[in-house]
Amino acid sequence: MSLTLPIQPGPIGVFDSGYGGLTILSEIRNALPMYDYVYLGDNARTPYGTRSFDIVYEFTLQAVRRLFELGCHLVILACNTASAKALRSIQMRDLPQLDPSRRVLGVIRPTVECIGDLTHSRHIGVLGTSGTIKSGSYVLEVRKLFPDIQVTGQACPMWVPLVEYNEAHGSGADYFVQKYVYALLEQDRLIDTVILGCTHYPLLLPKIKEYMPAGITIVSQGELVAQSLKDYLRRHPEIDSRCTRGGHCTYYTTESEEKFAESASTFLNKRIEVHHLDLNE
Ligand code: DGL
Repeated sequence: MSLTLPIQPGPIGVFDSGYGGLTILSEIRNALPMYDYVYLGDNARTPYGTRSFDIVYEFTLQAVRRLFELGCHLVILACNTASAKALRSIQMRDLPQLDPSRRVLGVIRPTVECIGDLTHSRHIGVLGTSGTIKSGSYVLEVRKLFPDIQVTGQACPMWVPLVEYNEAHGSGADYFVQKYVYALLEQDRLIDTVILGCTHYPLLLPKIKEYMPAGITIVSQGELVAQSLKDYLRRHPEIDSRCTRGGHCTYYTTESEEKFAESASTFLNKRIEVHHLDLNE
């Protein structure tokens, strides 16, 4: 007689290389407050944006495995770099072996889905890390859904460090915000819609708005990802039933707990309790 153990439901996992994914987590929790969440920031190894494909894949896979061990049946890669460089391999190659019933989703597809209704000129820009822009993931996704839209990417390598080091609102940030915004618009003067293709960038939004000409729509991902997740859970009751409901979130970082709690308070506007976790173990 075979004995099938009942499936133990768990929290929804949200992963980022650092603090950026907190912008996505906040929107997800606004839209879906009833679920439990686990947030994991790989702050000890951030930034991912300048790292190779192989390394981002390896680090992201370690994080996904750990979130599965923590009981998550559904993991959101709240990081464009990880979504661009690791998501497909994890979905195609690793999930069938790890556990085909669990799911890993990214942030690029839900962002791109909304773009068709927003651009009138059919010329859009994407601001992202070097890794995301070089991967060409946005160009590929847009081409699949909206072949008539032209996509121009601009890497903004200094923006993640500005956010990670809490300098997003300082006067030093102006130089680099202006530099990359202008560099994008100079490449294509018909751009009327710009995607912030990195989850850290909403923290720079006040400054980005200062340098972006009026009339250009700026697209932040948080709300789009949250709505897409809501829709996903509605369409997939088999996954939804494996997500616990308690409205609680547990935070993990690979860096110091104290440092994470301190910096996370600027993203979340509140103090949180954080646990340390080592992904190399
Ligand atoms: N926040 C991440 C993203 O959305 C990456 C930041 C980094 O580690 O470079 O791309």
